Amino acid sequence: MIDKIASEKIFPELTRDVIDRMKNAPGARLRDIMEIIIRHLHAIVREARITQDEWRSAIDFLTRTGQICSESRQEFILLSDILGISMLVDAVNNVAGPGISDSTVLGPFYAGRQRELSQGDSILLREEEGEPLVMSGRVTDPEGQPIAGALIEVWQTAPNQLYDVQDEHQPKGHLRASFRTDAAGAYRFRSIIPVSYPIPDDGPAGQLLGAMGRHPFRPAHIHFMISASGYRTLITHLFFEGDKFLESDAVFGVKPSLIVRPKLKQGINTVEYTFGLARVRRPRKDRSPSFVVGGRAAQLRR
Ligand code: BEZ
Ligand code: FE
Repeated sequence: MIDKIASEKIFPELTRDVIDRMKNAPGARLRDIMEIIIRHLHAIVREARITQDEWRSAIDFLTRTGQICSESRQEFILLSDILGISMLVDAVNNVAGPGISDSTVLGPFYAGRQRELSQGDSILLREEEGEPLVMSGRVTDPEGQPIAGALIEVWQTAPNQLYDVQDEHQPKGHLRASFRTDAAGAYRFRSIIPVSYPIPDDGPAGQLLGAMGRHPFRPAHIHFMISASGYRTLITHLFFEGDKFLESDAVFGVKPSLIVRPKLKQGINTVEYTFGLARVRRPRKDRSPSFVVGGRAAQLRR
């Protein structure tokens, strides 16, 4: 076991010097973040007593991570995902609550706005072996009132475990589409039950997973991105009960409220799910004070 207290005594003035040299940085936020990064990086080197060989391996790893990146491959996001950082950024920025659905990671396979389909349409562009699924439900505000005209974007893998953007044999736009909710906030589309799949693991992120003794699989899911004017965009997935990877998702994206169990309706697997959106918070400077100085409690919010 490494002696954390003793390690703190290794060259502490270096850390202070690196931080002090930022005193003329023009941006306060950048300076604050860099100070935290420097403190934590220096603490890692001290506490783990990083050897020079290990340091070279780390630089080599990051170099290979950059080299494998391309238009269609973002290895740094994969790294952030497998280390739980993407889910932590999500947690810092999105809070679910009564009437507000849980969010989760976006992932690297969102391919921008797709063709807009009508209620009840299928998101498949070709026949697949998968089990038919009907997805329906509503989009509501935090009080449960319907949001009409909300944009619902969905995407999922084909039964071969690949998204269209990973597979040149799938038609572009296969198993992805967008919809608008109707006046009652309702949506409905047809698809197939998704399958679990491995995240791309043929690069440095996959090597690190292996070295950490972990598998690269994600439980089956459908991605949703739901936006409406005046509301925070909800980025989330729905997962399927019984999947063997629900407890060990390679990117830590599963939340209990997002697990669904299809019910057979007229012989077809059907999932009904209501998504609750949070209202956009106005910047602090645009809001009236919520109290009156002098003690008279009053709500002056506009
Ligand atoms: C996805 O669900 O598409 C995904 C998320 C994180 C990493 C890789 C894939
Ligand atoms: Fe996915």
